[in-house]
Amino acid sequence: MSLLEQVGGQARRVASATLARIKVRDRRPRTARDTEDEALFRPLIYGDPERLHIHPTAVVNNALFNLSSGEITVAKHAFFGHNVSILTGTHDFTKFGAERQVAVPKTGRDVVIGEGVWVSSNVVVVAPCRIGAHSVVGVGSLVLGDIEPYTVVAGSPARVLRSIPRPDESAAAPAEPRPGAGGPVAGG
Ligand SMILES: CC(C)(COP(=O)(O)OP(=O)(O)OC[C@H]1O[C@@H](n2cnc3c(N)ncnc32)[C@H](O)[C@@H]1OP(=O)(O)O)[C@@H](O)C(=O)NCCC(=O)NCCS
Repeated sequence: MSLLEQVGGQARRVASATLARIKVRDRRPRTARDTEDEALFRPLIYGDPERLHIHPTAVVNNALFNLSSGEITVAKHAFFGHNVSILTGTHDFTKFGAERQVAVPKTGRDVVIGEGVWVSSNVVVVAPCRIGAHSVVGVGSLVLGDIEPYTVVAGSPARVLRSIPRPDESAAAPAEPRPGAGGPVAGG
């Protein structure tokens, strides 16, 4: 590799790191107070920042993004509590010693967090997985696989707690049951 190419590569890496830092600064929500520590809004990006795709309307606070083995996408209006970890990286555990340390697949373990998803504080998401639009992940949960849209999950590993009525369903259903109306009675 020529010196010019080396310098060019270095310049690209610096530019990309600078871009990542600018993006991070812009991530402080407009609702943040001056008394709130900057660290609460500063994501930790491990790996290539080019693999991280966060919609400008999403709020990720101080999430840790591990990009070793895949891409991470956070769609519009998704939001995180604090101390969320999204982990694409893995190691080949059939290897040992120094070899295991570096036996990391570069691709194949993407995470997609859908539109409007609420990922509560202290959640760990392990790739590969897709969290469907408008779902909720309860505080402290461990997500090990796909989650359907409009679903509340929680626990370690996360299990389905309930479904969330879709906006068209709640619009179609009467707000209150009509007196004397027949049909199934919802459990409490
Ligand atoms: C997921 C969540 C929204 C569910 O709220 P909810 O629908 O009112 O749930 P409930 O409190 O009625 O609990 C329903 C069941 O799920 C269980 N559950 C709720 N959240 C849980 C969690 N995070 N982990 C494990 N189990 C959980 C409850 O123990 C209960 O179990 P049971 O039926 O056996 O008694 C809420 O528990 C949560 O995690 N909120 C996030 C809070 C947070 O992180 N805030 C910071 C700002 S992002």
